[in-house]
Amino acid sequence: MSIPAESLSPEDALAALAWQIEIGADEAILDAAVNRYEPPAAAPGQTAAPVAVPVAVPVAVPAAARPDAEAEAERLALAAPDLDALRAAIEGFDGCALKRGARNTVFADGAPGARVMIVGEAPDRDEDLQGRPFVGRSGQLLDRMFAAIGLRRGAGDPAQGLYVTSAVPWRPPQNRAPTDEELAAVLPFLRRHIALAAPEVLVVMGALPARAVLQTATGLARLRGQWQQALGLPVLPMIHPEKLLREPSRKRLAWADLLTLKDRLT
Ligand code: URA
Repeated sequence: MSIPAESLSPEDALAALAWQIEIGADEAILDAAVNRYEPPAAAPGQTAAPVAVPVAVPVAVPAAARPDAEAEAERLALAAPDLDALRAAIEGFDGCALKRGARNTVFADGAPGARVMIVGEAPDRDEDLQGRPFVGRSGQLLDRMFAAIGLRRGAGDPAQGLYVTSAVPWRPPQNRAPTDEELAAVLPFLRRHIALAAPEVLVVMGALPARAVLQTATGLARLRGQWQQALGLPVLPMIHPEKLLREPSRKRLAWADLLTLKDRLT
């Protein structure tokens, strides 16, 4: 049964919208709203067909990194003298198709100048809505994990601070994995981000940032908890908190990795 839009109270309309978002219909497909209640114009001499109201099915934004996108990203990234300029350069960059389906650019959170910088994978729904990395369930777990070794995003003292970003600044549609082209197009920004934030150590959370930063095909299962060297920094690969939420038995490994990090910082 369909309810005419004009008979909904504002509260019911909001609840209906929240439900659409809850079931995953949270992507705008076209630039302009379509009036699906308007009958199609009848051809001359014909009567109009009955109107079937189509179901809105979210579609994936096709990966369409231009061949020159990486070079453009490199040029913009290297021209950014500080983090604010880098954020503006990323926000103005149109060489990665993911941006078109995202609500916000997710740049960073926490204390620039912190000893530890965390690189995650890609924004999820909550991060996309708020424009900040790791604010959903996996972000809450991440905060609890690092608080257990005395590190916090909000810490006034950089020695106890965390600086957090994501390898990819835009949410992929339906949270699919970013394609290699999409990742390649934003990698120059990530490298510059790390150089400008100048942490003492880098933690790469999950397989995607491990691959992006370490440029290796070795899987995370073998890399996690082992110090690596990349971009002139010690790099510790860890299991992504999202994976820990799905497989809590791995929290034991994550705790061992946190202690490895703590040892390095003392
Ligand atoms: N997972 C990530 O890797 N990054 C985010 O910002 C959110 C979830």
